[in-house]
Amino acid sequence: MPPSRATLSGAGAVAGVRESVGRVVEAADRQREALERDLHDGVQQRLVALRIRLALAGELVNGDARLRATLADIGDGLDAAIDELREVAHGIYPTVLAEHGLTAALSHVARACASPVEVVGTEVARHPPELELAIYYCCREAIQNASKHGGSSVHVQVSLHEDANKVGFVVCDDGPGFDVAGAPAAGGLEHMRDRIDLVGGRLSIISRAGAGTVVSAAIALSDAGAISHGHSALARV
Ligand SMILES: Nc1ncnc2c1ncn2[C@@H]1O[C@H](COP(=O)(O)OP(=O)(O)OP(=O)(O)O)[C@@H](O)[C@H]1O
Ligand SMILES: [Mg+2]
Repeated sequence: MPPSRATLSGAGAVAGVRESVGRVVEAADRQREALERDLHDGVQQRLVALRIRLALAGELVNGDARLRATLADIGDGLDAAIDELREVAHGIYPTVLAEHGLTAALSHVARACASPVEVVGTEVARHPPELELAIYYCCREAIQNASKHGGSSVHVQVSLHEDANKVGFVVCDDGPGFDVAGAPAAGGLEHMRDRIDLVGGRLSIISRAGAGTVVSAAIALSDAGAISHGHSALARV
């Protein structure tokens, strides 16, 4: 039996909403990328140039131990400011992801986390930015949730996997767990679901009070390694 008009218009509305959400997510990613580039090429470069000039000035100091120590202190402060700025810029847009891929970018997130986070699995190949960003942001949110809601003693494991047909991840923690059905509809969990939905996958969250949390997703790949899901905004590489 052919589908009814109501079914068709319902499916069309869902596709329309997905397309607009996809455009919003893509625009936000481009803005984050531009902001990260501005910080990197602007403020960060200025600070690095000042650091070099300060080191050169230090070489001109003869014998004055106090001045030498003061300049060294200022140099350490500048180094710390440059590192902090780099971290902030990385949080806005993951440059490591664009340059080195998912394993490197998530290892970077793991190192910065207050809780112990282990990244396991084989090196994952490069994929279209939309797909890599979806997996990256979901894993990052799952790691953050584990640490934020479970405390710094919670252990987190991020496992990336890939074969000829799909790429995916599993993030599990041994924290307090929660009632997934009773969690707020809006917020980080919803963003994770939207991100994965937009690349044609499905997010799974399994959790129970006292039994930790497992967040996972697998996304199908086409033969060419691109996203199989035929969304126009996502097909572009
Ligand atoms: N790994 C986890 N362990 C324990 N509780 C969790 C975990 N992940 C999510 N939760 C619970 O589910 C709720 C919803 O998570 P969600 O990520 O949507 O929001 P949030 O982390 O509180 O805030 P944000 O919107 O900034 O992410 C959390 O407030 C928390 O109670
Ligand atoms: Mg959250």
